[in-house]
Amino acid sequence: MVTRLLANIGELTTNDPTLGDLTVMGRLDDAALVVDETRVLWVGTNGDAPAADESLDLDGAAVVPGFVDSHTHLVFAGERSQEFEARMAGAPYDGGGINRTVEATRRASTAELRSLTAARARALAASGATTIEIKSGYELTLDGELRLLEVAGEFSDEVTFLGAHVVPEEFRGQRDDYVHLVAGEMLATCAPHAKWADVFCDTGAFSVDEAREVLQRAREAGLELRLHGNQLGESGGVALAVELDCASVDHCTFVNDHDLEILGASDTVATLLPGAEFSTRSPYPSARRFLDAGAVVALATDCNPGTSYVTSMPFVIALAVREMQMSVDEALWAATLGGARALRRDDVGHLGLGARADVLVLDAPRAAHLAYRPGGQVVSRTFRASRA
Ligand code: NIG
Ligand code: FE
Repeated sequence: MVTRLLANIGELTTNDPTLGDLTVMGRLDDAALVVDETRVLWVGTNGDAPAADESLDLDGAAVVPGFVDSHTHLVFAGERSQEFEARMAGAPYDGGGINRTVEATRRASTAELRSLTAARARALAASGATTIEIKSGYELTLDGELRLLEVAGEFSDEVTFLGAHVVPEEFRGQRDDYVHLVAGEMLATCAPHAKWADVFCDTGAFSVDEAREVLQRAREAGLELRLHGNQLGESGGVALAVELDCASVDHCTFVNDHDLEILGASDTVATLLPGAEFSTRSPYPSARRFLDAGAVVALATDCNPGTSYVTSMPFVIALAVREMQMSVDEALWAATLGGARALRRDDVGHLGLGARADVLVLDAPRAAHLAYRPGGQVVSRTFRASRA
């Protein structure tokens, strides 16, 4: 395997507390990194760097781990900009538009869905995402959800079955029948094509009891669990996620002190999605409350056509710093190692020895520029480890 030396790094963030300044950021100044096509082989001071097959002088640039976007809904057709405009003028978000995307997605050919998903995955990669999770949830039929999972699987190994996104129009008035279908036949067909199961547990979507039923069956089918919770209100989603040891509970826009206390004592990550608060004009939750309670916080884009048509992790970091009371380092950690924790992965989100060689070179001397220059192209070069 070819080895590559990234030399003359101005500021290296490894997220490995055994390296550099021995903080959670594992930071080194005047550093170097040696990788091969898959792994990090060496980390240290520039002057001590070993020889490698290839060498690249980074001329003082900052280097950070690739972003781990642990929450996206990339496979969909159509768009809902009129809803966005209405919300900017004061209309609330209640999840009601999801069925419009379901309609558009059902009509799209598989080739169309593949090319739309590819374009969104490219946009995420261009702004530094090297690991992405992708959910189904916009067909809500047995064959349709299977088709979305198959398309998602062409772009990621972190594929999530979200048959319980909302009750589709044709099951209006028969929600029990839909829950039965999702937790039964649909799950049985979809489980071999997914790693995770998720449920939108909120007012207007699924109740705590319905979500528990779907998730318990999903676990029996061999899937790992995550949950959309507490986006629209104090829905009980956080408590359910902790009860079921979900890897992550996502959104957490409205949480009470008890939610924070149990999250802090659990292995469930709180994944905050500020793109959704931005695009729905909702109040931003304060990440400080979660961090002070001892919870692990992740940041993700939630890329979807309804509440967060966002394909940039640096934009998410900037929002979290500006609106959620996170320091730049906390937000950077949450967008990298936090995302990895939310996917229960230890090989991504950091640049410790043996980690996947997912490396971002910034057009900046310090990582803080990710939040300091919002909207700019701060990620100048991405090395993504070969997955083969
Ligand atoms: O994460 N909350 C549920 N699902 C998506 C929104 C889906 C939509 O509005 O199309 C979310 O915000
Ligand atoms: Fe979502």
